[in-house]
Amino acid sequence: MELDKTRRAVHNARMSQIQHATQPTTISPLYAVPSYAKINLTLDVLGKRPDGYHELATVMQTIDLYDTIYLIAGDEDRVSMVCNRAELCNTDNLVVKAAQMVRQQLHLTRGIHIELLKRIPVAAGLGGGSSDAATVLLALRDWWQLPLSDQQLWEMASALGSDVPFFLQGGLTLCEGRGERLMQLKHNWPATMRWLVLLKPAISISTAQVFRALQPQDYTNGSWSHAAQAALETESTLQPQNLYNSLERGVLEQYAEVAQARSALLDAGADNVRLSGSGPTLFSTFADLTTASRVQQHLQTQGYEVYLTRPIAPAGQSIHFF
Ligand code: C5P
Repeated sequence: MELDKTRRAVHNARMSQIQHATQPTTISPLYAVPSYAKINLTLDVLGKRPDGYHELATVMQTIDLYDTIYLIAGDEDRVSMVCNRAELCNTDNLVVKAAQMVRQQLHLTRGIHIELLKRIPVAAGLGGGSSDAATVLLALRDWWQLPLSDQQLWEMASALGSDVPFFLQGGLTLCEGRGERLMQLKHNWPATMRWLVLLKPAISISTAQVFRALQPQDYTNGSWSHAAQAALETESTLQPQNLYNSLERGVLEQYAEVAQARSALLDAGADNVRLSGSGPTLFSTFADLTTASRVQQHLQTQGYEVYLTRPIAPAGQSIHFF
């Protein structure tokens, strides 16, 4: 899908800002860079499109939970990778596809070896694979000083996956269309949501399957995401009860583990719980660290995989927490 002229200008301006946003630790010939996860504050599914995808409006936020990607100059004319999660160590991995796409686009013969240190749970609704792909695109452009425009990078990101363009800029963003049309929002993060407890049930969920299980009553007109956008932009407080996810009903009904995990979060003291993306990860928001860490520890003693994290915006040479 093409960006219109104004949107493209705004997009390019933002992309120029973020071109140097992901500051690497450069020890030539090694390039190391963090790749952040996301949560969906809201996710409206508006309907099914003729191309089989669904029309979305979603407000996403990068969080301080990250994979680390190490790019290493390779001797041979190929892309290779290793990963601490053996099942991800293959040429279907989006980091390999992203690197191959860059090489093909510019007819490069330089070899590259990628070491992927995964910390973000896989197939969890946290965008880990998409984030890794976007990070490789940005990192290769920067490391190899490639003549790739922001528009070209955005097009490659869109071809790699619906969430990948978001991770080129990160932060707090309204994503529309398939997810690839981006509008960055002001970092007006509510103080009541400063801390996030993430609970990852011990199952993986196929995004495609979750979208297939949608029913007509799950569709909205985008109002949750647009109301969240308005609240964040006008500095009126976004309340936890204004968070929403069209995919949540189906996931809670279909996967007992997720429904159980939701109850466990509420029993542990969370006063709000939402699904991130297509799940199965659930998140709860907290104003203070003490309560959030108490909930985390309580859930960990019950054997749950739980993360205590915070919204984060990669920007310039530093990162902003809010
Ligand atoms: O774009 P991506 O490969 O990440 O999407 C994974 C799957 O999620 C798609 O194959 C599609 O079934 C579903 N999807 C969708 N509508 C979107 C995004 C994803 O139906 N906007």
